[in-house]
Amino acid sequence: MASRAFLFLFMLWCAETIQFSTQQELPPTRLSSSDLAVLYDVGHSLRDQPGSDFFSTWRFDSPSAATDACSSFTGVVCSPSDDNADLRVTSLTLGEGVAASPGLAGTLPPSLANLTALSQLVLTPGRVAGPIPEALGGSALPALRLLSLSGNLLSGPIPASFAAAGALPNLHTLDLGHNRLSGPVPDGLLAMPSLRVLVLAANGGLSGRIPPLAVPLLHLDLRGNNFTGSIPRPLPATLRYLSVSGNAMSGPLDALDAAFADLTFLDLSMNAFFGPVPAALFAPRRRPEEEVPPPLAVLLLQRNNLSDPIPAPSEPAAVSGWTVDLSHNRLTGSLPAGLAAAGSLFVNNNRLTGAVPSEFARSVYAGSMTTLYAQHNYLTGFDSPLPLPGGNGPGADATPPLPDGVTVCLSYNCMVPPPVGPPGCPASSADEGSRPPYQCPAFNNGTGTVVTGGGGDLSWDDPEP
Ligand SMILES: *[C@@H]1O[C@H](CO)[C@@H](O)[C@H](O)[C@H]1NC(C)=O
Ligand SMILES: *[C@@H]1O[C@H](CO)[C@@H](O)[C@H](O)[C@H]1NC(C)=O
Ligand SMILES: *[C@@H]1O[C@H](CO)[C@@H](O)[C@H](O)[C@H]1NC(C)=O
Ligand SMILES: *[C@@H]1O[C@H](CO)[C@@H](O)[C@H](O)[C@H]1NC(C)=O
Repeated sequence: MASRAFLFLFMLWCAETIQFSTQQELPPTRLSSSDLAVLYDVGHSLRDQPGSDFFSTWRFDSPSAATDACSSFTGVVCSPSDDNADLRVTSLTLGEGVAASPGLAGTLPPSLANLTALSQLVLTPGRVAGPIPEALGGSALPALRLLSLSGNLLSGPIPASFAAAGALPNLHTLDLGHNRLSGPVPDGLLAMPSLRVLVLAANGGLSGRIPPLAVPLLHLDLRGNNFTGSIPRPLPATLRYLSVSGNAMSGPLDALDAAFADLTFLDLSMNAFFGPVPAALFAPRRRPEEEVPPPLAVLLLQRNNLSDPIPAPSEPAAVSGWTVDLSHNRLTGSLPAGLAAAGSLFVNNNRLTGAVPSEFARSVYAGSMTTLYAQHNYLTGFDSPLPLPGGNGPGADATPPLPDGVTVCLSYNCMVPPPVGPPGCPASSADEGSRPPYQCPAFNNGTGTVVTGGGGDLSWDDPEP
């Protein structure tokens, strides 16, 4: 009897406990009043451009605005607050985010920093102008992992508050690209502990030296600015993507003469870097546990002031399938046969000498190399085991056409006539034929020594046709 009564009481207790805890754990449905006030501020600082329909769901006049905000405001994602008392905005995407949308206009309100539970803040491309609020940096947004404000008209400096000690401790991705920012990268920005992806591309006016890279970045895109100085050393060995294209940087490339096992895209083009091409770029970057290295697929070093012979790839597979652009530099010596494994190779407008090794003819006729730009050098032949027009292989009179989609440009070299091309070559080089003969004997046997006479002084700086 007693045990029955006990069982009954026990079940009653359980039922009450369950009911009690269900009530306790009922998820909150109302957005915190402070976050709602920020959304109101955002909705009045930014506006749809004609053709954009983002803010039509943001209705503050309804009595249920505090519950609607998380359930039906476009771009707003909420989660329960730590004490489960109400909802907080954890992700905010401002703008429709579809390619055709013209996006938003207006300015970013500093009150965004009151959304202290935010982990993602994205402004889609549009015409939002004015400064990046200083308040977004510092300690206001400890949970923020992603901040993307790219493709707008934001101007002024990158706030120093972003680089303050302890600022944005969880920020993983910062994309401020394609705006109108100017001034230096604050010291410390590249030391934010969680930062892995930084895009400051195409602002135009960001300037000064690139500060030391003190964190294991994966992706760094600084192209299209006005940065000066050399590439910081050491570069994080973790890099997968690095672009500083189109700046005013200079110095040698020795920071790249190291192993970057995961690097797949490197673009240093259109600067004033000088000295040799780092040999390590053409060495297989094999991790001990792996058979095949992950391939660097794109290597762009064109339009710098690089000199010396091109380093030979340390094994034929080292550049297999890569796109390599070394054009418009001051490279000397002959073309290393190992580069014939590349998928596309641009070495035009250099000072290369000697014959193009037969490996290149094999690659272009096999179609494994689809583009070979070697015009505007001092090359003396296109060695081929195959019958080529003008070549000296067997059956030289038969002229096998290049495979469809393959382009080989050899004009303005020290060979007559260019054996292949020019279909598909740049218009500027299509009908140039050979280099004036006096320039060719003047180039003394690949040593880079210029001898005068026999037709006049040789200027290295050939006028572009
Ligand atoms: C943001 O927070 C500050 C400081 O707590 C406060 O003065 C301001 O009114 C808040 N802004 C909004 C829009 O809630
Ligand atoms: C780049 O910086 C130089 C000074 O270092 C300045 O004269 C030039 O106007 C800047 N260019 C741009 C596009 O900001
Ligand atoms: C390229 O290097 C040469 C030799 O070091 C130097 O004379 C020239 O000024 C450099 N050109 C540029 C554009 O930096
Ligand atoms: C080029 O130099 C090599 C060795 O340095 C020599 O054997 C060869 O005859 C030279 N060729 C010309 C055309 O001077």
